[in-house]
Amino acid sequence: MKYLIANWKAQMTFSQIQEWTREFRQQIDENSQLKNKLTDNPISIILCPPHPFILYVKDQLHDYPFIKIGAQDISTIEEGKFTGEVTAKALQGIIDYSIIGHSERRSNFGETEKHIEQKIQQCQKYNIEPILCVRDEKDSMYPAVKILAFEPVSAIGTGKNMDPLQVIEMKKKLAVSPENSFLYGGSADETNCAGYYKTGEIDGFLVGNASLNPTKFFEMAHNIV
Ligand code: PGA
Repeated sequence: MKYLIANWKAQMTFSQIQEWTREFRQQIDENSQLKNKLTDNPISIILCPPHPFILYVKDQLHDYPFIKIGAQDISTIEEGKFTGEVTAKALQGIIDYSIIGHSERRSNFGETEKHIEQKIQQCQKYNIEPILCVRDEKDSMYPAVKILAFEPVSAIGTGKNMDPLQVIEMKKKLAVSPENSFLYGGSADETNCAGYYKTGEIDGFLVGNASLNPTKFFEMAHNIV
C-alpha cells in the first residue's frame, strides 16, 4: 500500500478548508485517468485536518474510495472529565488513522514515549491505525505500529528535504520490517517526491507545507501513483 498524507497542522481556517476541498474535488474530477488509477491502485490519500474540521472534510470527499481521514493527534486518555481532550473513543468510526508522536508535539508539548505508548494503545483499542513519526533511531519503535514516518527535524518545514539515500540509510538503522510501511516526511513536495519513490524503498509521504496547496498535493499523488 502506498500512502500520501496531508498534515495541515494548525494552518488552515474553515473557509480555507472549504476552498481546499472544493479545488481538490475539481482536480480529481477533471482528471479521469488519474482518478481511475487512484481508484484501481493500492493507494490511500489520508487527509489530517484539525479536529473540528474532520467531519466536514470526510463528508465532502467520502465518495472517493482512495481518500481516508486521519487525526493529527489523539488524547492519551480514554474518556472522562478532561476539558479539551479529543479521544480515540470519540473519533472511533469517524477516522481511520491518527498521526502519533509528531516532532512538533514532542518538542512543543512535552510529549514523551510514555504518552506515545498510551496513544498507540488508545488507537488499537478503537480501531484507528497509528502513523508513528520518528525523528531518528533514538525514538522508540512499537510492534503494534505498522505505518512509520521518518521525519528528520532538520527537514521539517525548512525546504531542505533529506537526500533519498540518507533516508534509506535511516530505514536500515531503524530496522524497519518488511511488514511495515515506511514513509518519509520533511519538505517533501511535488518536485522531489518521485526521487524518493523510485528507490523502491519508500512507501509514501507525510506532507506539511506542500499539502496546504491542493494543486501541489494533487501533483504529488500524480507522481507516485
Ligand atoms: P513539511 O512538514 O512537509 O512542511 O516539512 C512535514 C511534517 O511536519 O509532517
